[in-house]
Amino acid sequence: MIKTAIFPVGGLGTRFLPATKAMPKEMLPVVDKPLIQYAVEEAAEAGVEEFIFVTGRNKTAIEDHFDHSFELEATLSAKGKDEALDVVKSMLHNPGSVMYVRQQQPAGLGHAVWCARHLIGSKPVAVLLADDLILGASCVREMVESYSGGNMVAVMDVPQDQTVAYGIVTPGADDGRVVQIEGLVEKPDPDEAPSNIAVVGRYIITPEVFETLAAQERGAGGEIQLTDALAKQIGSAPFTGVRFSGERFDCGSKLGFLQANVAFGLNNGTLEGDLRSWLEERLT
Ligand code: G1P
Repeated sequence: MIKTAIFPVGGLGTRFLPATKAMPKEMLPVVDKPLIQYAVEEAAEAGVEEFIFVTGRNKTAIEDHFDHSFELEATLSAKGKDEALDVVKSMLHNPGSVMYVRQQQPAGLGHAVWCARHLIGSKPVAVLLADDLILGASCVREMVESYSGGNMVAVMDVPQDQTVAYGIVTPGADDGRVVQIEGLVEKPDPDEAPSNIAVVGRYIITPEVFETLAAQERGAGGEIQLTDALAKQIGSAPFTGVRFSGERFDCGSKLGFLQANVAFGLNNGTLEGDLRSWLEERLT
C-alpha cells in the first residue's frame, strides 16, 4: 500500500564528531551494518519499492553503499567468497528505484522532507529516520498494516523528563496500541507537555503535508518542523499513532548507539555467546 519512502540523511551528525567529520552519521555501523541499511530494509519489508534519500554534502558514501562496487565484487568473486558477495549484491535495488535529492542546507526535518516533493506522486509516503533503530519486527510494516488513510506516526511512552527531545502527542481515544492524535507539539518542556507519548522517527504522510510544508514556517529551534506541518492537518485528515512491538534505540545519542550495538550483538547468533560471557565477566 505504501510504495515510497523518504530517508532524510542530510544532517551533520555533530554529536558523533570526530567520527562523522568525513563520514555520514547514517553510515555508522551497528554490529556490521550501517544505520541507513537497517532503515532501508525495514521499509522494504513493509512493501516499499522506491527509496528517496534527502542527502547533503559529504554524503556520497550512502550513494556508493547502495550501488555496485565493481572492484570489490570482482575480488570476492575471484576469491570464491560467495557469501560476502551475496551480502554486497543484496543491497542493490531495482534500477531507478533509488533516488537522491540534495538538501542544500540543514533547515529542519520538515524542510528535508519537503525537498523530496518533486519525487513523490499523489499517494501517501513513509518517512524513516535512520537514527531511530528498531530491533524486532518492521515498525513500518506494523504501521502499514494498521493504516487506513491520513497521517500516521510511530509512538512510544517516554519518561516525562525526556519530552524535550521529541514530538509529543495530545492523545484522544487510545486502545493501548493505536492512539488517535488530537494535538502534536515539538520538543515541549516536561511541565508543558500534553502527555509522555512521543513520536519515534517513522511516519506515513499524505501529499497534503508537502503543501503545508511549502509555507516554510519555522518552529522549535528555528527549524522547519515536520511535527508542525502534521499538527496543522489535524481536523482535516485522520491522524493516528501506532505503538510498535520492537525495541527502539536512539542512535542519535552515544549511549543509545552503544546500547544498540550490545542489543544487536546479543541478538546475533554468531556473536551472542562470546559477547554475553565477556559482558558478564566485565560487569562482575
Ligand atoms: C525528530 C522529530 C521529533 C521526533 C524525533 C524521534 O527529532 O522532530 O518529533 O520525536 O525525531 O527521534 P530529532 O531527534 O531529529 O531532533
